[in-house]
Amino acid sequence: MKGAALIDNLLNFIQRSPTPWHAVENACRLLTDAGFQPLRETDRWPAQACEAGFVTRDDGSLIAFRSGRRSLLDEGIRLAGTHTDSPCLRIRRQSTRQNQGYAQFNVETYGGVLLHPWYDRDLSIAGRVSGVDANGQLLSTLVDFRDPVAFIPSLAIHLDREANKGRNINPQTELSPVTLRLGEGESFDFERILLEQINAGEGGEGTPIARVLSWDLLLYDTQPPARVGLRGEFIASARLDNLLSTYVALRALISADGEHASMIVCNDHEEVGSVSASGARGTFLSSVLQRLIAQEDGGADAFPRMIQQSLMLSIDNSHGVHPNFADKHDREHRPLLNGGPVVKSNANQRYAGSSASVALFRSLCEQTGVPCQWFANRADLACGSTIGPLTAAELGIPVLDIGVAQFGMHSIRELAGSEDPAHLFTCVTGFFNRLV
Ligand code: CO
Repeated sequence: MKGAALIDNLLNFIQRSPTPWHAVENACRLLTDAGFQPLRETDRWPAQACEAGFVTRDDGSLIAFRSGRRSLLDEGIRLAGTHTDSPCLRIRRQSTRQNQGYAQFNVETYGGVLLHPWYDRDLSIAGRVSGVDANGQLLSTLVDFRDPVAFIPSLAIHLDREANKGRNINPQTELSPVTLRLGEGESFDFERILLEQINAGEGGEGTPIARVLSWDLLLYDTQPPARVGLRGEFIASARLDNLLSTYVALRALISADGEHASMIVCNDHEEVGSVSASGARGTFLSSVLQRLIAQEDGGADAFPRMIQQSLMLSIDNSHGVHPNFADKHDREHRPLLNGGPVVKSNANQRYAGSSASVALFRSLCEQTGVPCQWFANRADLACGSTIGPLTAAELGIPVLDIGVAQFGMHSIRELAGSEDPAHLFTCVTGFFNRLV
């Protein structure tokens, strides 16, 4: 898939994936359509590896693979790792508060949210809901309200003359979205509204629930993704970090020729440190790899033999140099939007990589005609990190951190280049097909 079609499909995927659980469900649908076989961790897996399969954990993490035509012991496996979650506001268990005649959601921040851009947005709610059906059976379903149902209004500048001079935002007291103007004596029953939304089938997945018992719900911006710029050279959307990488890796795996073992691992909980059963520091990836290598009957040392022949690209967006804040970058490491994938390096292993893996990637870019560029943090700024070093440490697998450049990381609306997804797609497909 190239250029315009890739961008259209990417933006459509992001719009239909307001939560990690929706992203995984939409990815599973694409994989099924492409002939990948669904597997479940709770089942006994077939003795013979299937040609192409996928498995999820806790609804928010996904692994999909092609087995290839050669032994994993002979040539290892090529992986692309991404994450499915993005910083956002989540609704707390005690979901609402009543204040000054309004009903407001009681929210907490998930991950490193850039708070200012959440004001003055038409917000909707999506997530997963668990409850019981009419027979008392426990079940879960996804829900997406789709319509704007909440709003966090700015305070007028007349009431805060210092607003443009570095105002701090208190996430406990200043971020509650307004959702209802309550009538006299009216109280707000969010569980009833949730139930109606699910059972109306509108945005719910059509699973009837008799009673809601629990949920994981977040707020998102209803403004659709868009192409921006006089020549359409940018794409603006929520969750570009990191559904852009997730979608491109998924498409690359689907397009790979299937000759060689290749895999994508899309983890939840990266934005909160990855320490969870389905996060990059959990057992999901090692468990799936162990089950795949067990099908080869290679003996007790099969796993480390496979791992040491494998290589993972950890793909997560990078910071493009912002023309208004260029000093925030090292002068010699200033990635540009549409300048091709960025190789991230950090001497202190906040990003994974070695001269060998960088050389392989450069060679891959040269062979596929894709430009590439470099990122390294200023020495006087704390460096970010991602799933790359964590996965390298957990599995002992060689990993290289790369990603496309973007502006406004962790904003509710981020900006990336419209040519970079195709660049990334070309080199990840070439990586899976072992052009290098
Ligand atoms: Co990220």
